Amino acid sequence: MPDNTTLKIPPRAPNPHWLLGHSVAFLKFPLEFFRESLGYGDIYGYRVGHLPSLGGNIPEFYRRVLQENAKNYVKGEYYNPLKLLLGQGLVTSEGDFWLKQRRIQQPAFHRQRMESFADMIVQEGAKMLDAWERRDTAIALDDELFHLTLTVVGHALFSVDFSGDSQQLGDALTFAVEFVNKRIYNVVSAPMFMPLPEIQRFKRDVKMIDEKIFAMIEQRKREGIESKQDLLSMLMEMRDEDTGEGMSEQQLRDELMTMIFAGHETTAISLMWIFYALTQHKEVAEKLNNEITSVLQGRTPTVSDTANMPYTKQVIQETMRLYPPVWIYGRKALEDDEIAGYYVKKGTYITLSPYAMHRNPDLWENPEHFNPERFSPERSKGRSPYAYFPFSNGQRKCIGDGFAMMEMQLLVPLMLQRFRMELVPNQQIVFNPLITLRSKFPMMMNLIKQ
Ligand code: HEM
Repeated sequence: MPDNTTLKIPPRAPNPHWLLGHSVAFLKFPLEFFRESLGYGDIYGYRVGHLPSLGGNIPEFYRRVLQENAKNYVKGEYYNPLKLLLGQGLVTSEGDFWLKQRRIQQPAFHRQRMESFADMIVQEGAKMLDAWERRDTAIALDDELFHLTLTVVGHALFSVDFSGDSQQLGDALTFAVEFVNKRIYNVVSAPMFMPLPEIQRFKRDVKMIDEKIFAMIEQRKREGIESKQDLLSMLMEMRDEDTGEGMSEQQLRDELMTMIFAGHETTAISLMWIFYALTQHKEVAEKLNNEITSVLQGRTPTVSDTANMPYTKQVIQETMRLYPPVWIYGRKALEDDEIAGYYVKKGTYITLSPYAMHRNPDLWENPEHFNPERFSPERSKGRSPYAYFPFSNGQRKCIGDGFAMMEMQLLVPLMLQRFRMELVPNQQIVFNPLITLRSKFPMMMNLIKQ
């Protein structure tokens, strides 16, 4: 237990409203708030309504919360709205229960297993590109990518083809995520039993997704659990060591819903920002194309090619630095703690923002500049894992990080071999910082055949 008499109290962010604290800035202009917070000191306090919160600008802050004393920092109420959609899956569960579920699912993400999906990813990507060949109008890139990554997750984790359903599933998920998001950021939300149109639509959409998930479980039971070796079978095979019982259908549903949610949107958004960045930085696009042409010589990429395309990886990394798909997440302190000489009071909400840290001028030279060279092996040497952490870090690090990286390392060259993209003129590109860092409007791209 830290001795709070000798510890420093974190300085307060400026200009709190007497009642609302920093709610307006935090809720209405969150990206600006976190950018400005870089000037508030190593660790700073702010208030959202009556909730005392802390943010930090030093790697030590993140290391303490996510790794060293992670047991003290739970996800807490911040994640309650997400539970309306995900229940108690891997993203939202806590403690021993979370650990047990994580251990069951970890083998499904083993590197070799992931690599066995490379051909499927390339095939699904090629189907999307074939459809692009037949178009003579601009595409909404984000929609196309949501569709593709959802299909990929369906095949990889559940051996199911979502492609026929992906529009309906994707729309329902988009609405559900926006609904949940509003409830995370609203200080007051209507109770879920109220018959408001939004709440009813949310319930209808979740029911529709649930029905698909339960149908998937039923189908697997009919085919036999041993018929496949994917995450779905792994979860269905699991038996509790003490009771010998399997996972309940509800728990299965929660884990599957979590994977569908966490496994596709993040990757799609990341890919979208990569292609956006390439439209803005022609010299990067040219260098990337040169690498792809010289390594692949016209072949479709395979998993072994990815190791020979370091610049492709660097472009992906740099994009996730400036546009981290999961740009903020939170924790709550269970007990008093000390971080870097500062007092952290029990019950304080902690905001963790890769978006801010990735733009921190103490850690990054010319941080707003898009420059994949920063991720060259020489320049990456010695960089703190808490200066760059698009997949988080510590025990609750993203389980799908390797999968997402491989998917992007295959899809970026595959797509660039066939098309170059240009933004449709006169459209506004504006961030929509929901749970993930979306684009506020569909990102419209003209396709130019390579
Ligand atoms: C570019 C793509 C991705 C990014 C940037 C990303 C980022 C993250 C981050 C930051 C977290 C921690 C969130 C928190 O602590 O609240 C997380 C957790 C998680 N991610 Fe990802 N993710 C990506 C792709 C994936 C994929 C492809 C999957 C699955 C197929 C996945 C499944 C999960 C799960 C299940 C968790 C919860 C892990 C746990 O708490 O044990 N993610 N991800």
